[in-house]
Amino acid sequence: MDITVVGTGYVGLVAGTCFADMGNRVFCVDIDSKKIGMLNDGKCPIYEPGLEPLIEKNVKAKRLFFTTDIKKAINETEIIFIAVGTPPKPNGDADLSFVENVAKTIAETATEPKIVVEKSTVPVETGERIAAVLKLYNPHNVVFEVVSNPEFLREGSAVKDFLVPDRIVIGASSEHARKKLGELYSPLKAKILFTDVKSAEIIKHASNSFLATKISFINAIADICDNTGADVKLVAEGMGLDARIGKSFLNPGIGYGGFCFPKDVEAFIRIAEKKGYDFRLLKEVQEINHAQRKIFVKKIEQQLWNLNNKKICVLGLAFKPNTDDMRFAPSIDIIKMLQDEGAKIFAYDPVAMERAKSEIRGIEFCSNAYAAAKDAEALLVLTEWQEFLELDFKKIRASMKTHFLFDGRNCLDSKKMISLGFKYFGMGSQGNNCL
Ligand code: UDX
Repeated sequence: MDITVVGTGYVGLVAGTCFADMGNRVFCVDIDSKKIGMLNDGKCPIYEPGLEPLIEKNVKAKRLFFTTDIKKAINETEIIFIAVGTPPKPNGDADLSFVENVAKTIAETATEPKIVVEKSTVPVETGERIAAVLKLYNPHNVVFEVVSNPEFLREGSAVKDFLVPDRIVIGASSEHARKKLGELYSPLKAKILFTDVKSAEIIKHASNSFLATKISFINAIADICDNTGADVKLVAEGMGLDARIGKSFLNPGIGYGGFCFPKDVEAFIRIAEKKGYDFRLLKEVQEINHAQRKIFVKKIEQQLWNLNNKKICVLGLAFKPNTDDMRFAPSIDIIKMLQDEGAKIFAYDPVAMERAKSEIRGIEFCSNAYAAAKDAEALLVLTEWQEFLELDFKKIRASMKTHFLFDGRNCLDSKKMISLGFKYFGMGSQGNNCL
């Protein structure tokens, strides 16, 4: 099939590349000519495992094209995916002006029928808005069909999530569009759920909000565990063995970050509000998420007392492993709180330091974990990179001034750390320091 994907951010780039790898001819469009130039040279503008070789392979095979010429792409393809950004406005609503602009361009350009697919995360009823725009600016009287096909990929495993999805949701109002999209995805042999457009739109916000709720729930349990001496890891394991609950997304820590969960939870609260529902549950999910950062810093202060001029080593800055994404990373809030108390931060992250430089000021970026830990009074793990699990902690402990270890992701083996002589503190799991 011939496909256009408008927007080469995470979602558009991964979707376009994977569609090409499935054998389709794909035009990925962006207004950023620098980015398009880079992509045409086979270089990936984001850190995403497995994506760059896939781009290279499909560009070489002449199935994947990067262009700024949206009109040409529209004219050469029947299915057009809108994957442009929907960033939050200052009031928390999603800014849909990029989506509207693309819809308008499609309407003004197309001379033959098109299927227009929303791939970006959008509020319910955006499909209706897109259909209205397509009708309004339609000089050639073209028939447009609007489909909602939300994306569920995670950064760090985006290619796999796209090619081996749990489910594909296709919200279409016409049989023709349903059939076309069904055919497009059929090579993936995944479960496809066909719905109406509005239900598909809500599925995306409801799924992300539910996952965020699961994280805040286990974080609340972690706090109870901290205050009672129970071990949240065992509690989560016991809960997760119930098939109705499931074990995923029950890892407590310093709270969720990234561009999707914070933005989507806020947007869903606003959407609900506009429809007359006060989503108190999600407001509390946000509260708990913010509180996790403060609880973590409080733990540090309880052990180190005054932080002024104390050297603190931070391992991990990205909002999660396998990405260089710093958007809404918990590390930003935590480092700020520590700096406000006068702490000196020495940080290391395997890939996110370049991006972190524009988000976090006044810290020392180190070339490796050992350099960051030297003479530190405390070591904080804020992202659970595999690299950190394989560090020589004996060597690290020997180079530190005092041996406090705060594991914000519960990713280290607490017993081993204690046996090495660390004073270990997890989230909801104290590692039995007092035994
Ligand atoms: C998320 C959704 O998973 C994906 O389906 C959607 O399309 C985009 O948003 P992403 O933001 O890439 O993906 O990351 P994800 O792996 O879901 O993690 C989000 C945040 O939650 C991270 O900060 C992570 O550290 C945190 N998290 C996740 C926890 O704190 N505990 C968990 O158990 C799981």
